[in-house]
Amino acid sequence: MPADMSPSDRAKFLAARRAVDYVEDGMRVGLGTGSTAAWMVRCLGDLVREEGLRVTGVPTSRRTADLARQVGIKVVTLEEAKWLDLTIDGADEYDPNLHLIKGGGGALLHEKIVATASDQMVVIADISKQVDKLGAFPLPVEVIPFGWQTTKMLLEETLINMDVMGRTCTLRLDMDKPYVTDEGNYILDLHLRRIGKPGQLALVLNQIPGVVENGLFIDICDVVVIGHQDGRVEVRDINNGTVKNEQIDIVEDENLFQDISD
Ligand code: A5P
Repeated sequence: MPADMSPSDRAKFLAARRAVDYVEDGMRVGLGTGSTAAWMVRCLGDLVREEGLRVTGVPTSRRTADLARQVGIKVVTLEEAKWLDLTIDGADEYDPNLHLIKGGGGALLHEKIVATASDQMVVIADISKQVDKLGAFPLPVEVIPFGWQTTKMLLEETLINMDVMGRTCTLRLDMDKPYVTDEGNYILDLHLRRIGKPGQLALVLNQIPGVVENGLFIDICDVVVIGHQDGRVEVRDINNGTVKNEQIDIVEDENLFQDISD
C-alpha cells in the first residue's frame, strides 16, 4: 500500500480488500458505486487478472461499469444476470441494525435494485460512516423531473408527521443545473438530522407521487466490513450476530494503485 495514501483511503481500501474474500469462483456480483466501492472493484479485478477468479459483475452506475471493464471484470446487466450471489457496496451511514443511508453518489436507485436482487449484501466503510441513529447525512430521494417542485412540497408536508428532527429538502445540483441520475431523474436531499423510525419513513416516502426511490436501505445489508486506519478490519454479521476483528497485511501491488478514476 503506498505510504502517501490518505488515512481515509487506507481504511476504505482495507475494508474493500477484506470484502472481496466473500467472492467465490463463478459468482454473479453486484458492484457498488462510490470511492470505497471503487477500491473493491480494483481488488476484484486484481483477483480476476492475477488468480483467474471467474466473476460476472453487475455495476450500479456507468462509472462503476467503466472501472470494472477497465480492470478486467466481465460486466453484464441485471436483466442478463437475473439474480446475484452477492453485492458489495459502500454506504453513507450505517446504524447498529445495519440499516443504511445510501445515495450520496447519486446511484441509490440502481444500488437498491441490485442489492435487493442479491442473496447477500456486504457493505464496506470506514468508521466515519457509523452512527447510532441515521439522519445526520442528508437522505437522498430520487424523483422524476416532471413536477419535481410539487413532489418536493409533498415531501416536506409528509415530513411534518414523521419522527425526524429536520424537514428541509434541497434539489441536488451539478454546478448550476439539477444533478441528473443514470435514469434521467433528479435527487432531493432531505436534511432530517435524526430519523427516529427509518423503516416507517422508507415506506411512507415511496407512497408520494413522483418519488422513484429513497436512500434508506432497511433489512437489506447482511454484513458490514469496517476498515480502520491502523490496519484493523472489523466484520459485523447481522444474521449470525458475530463481530470479528482482524488484522490485514497488504503487500503493495502496483496494478492495484494505478489510475484510480473514482
Ligand atoms: C452512491 O450512490 C452511494 O450510495 C455510495 O455508496 C455512498 O455514497 C458511499 O460512497 P463513498 O464510499 O465514496 O463514501
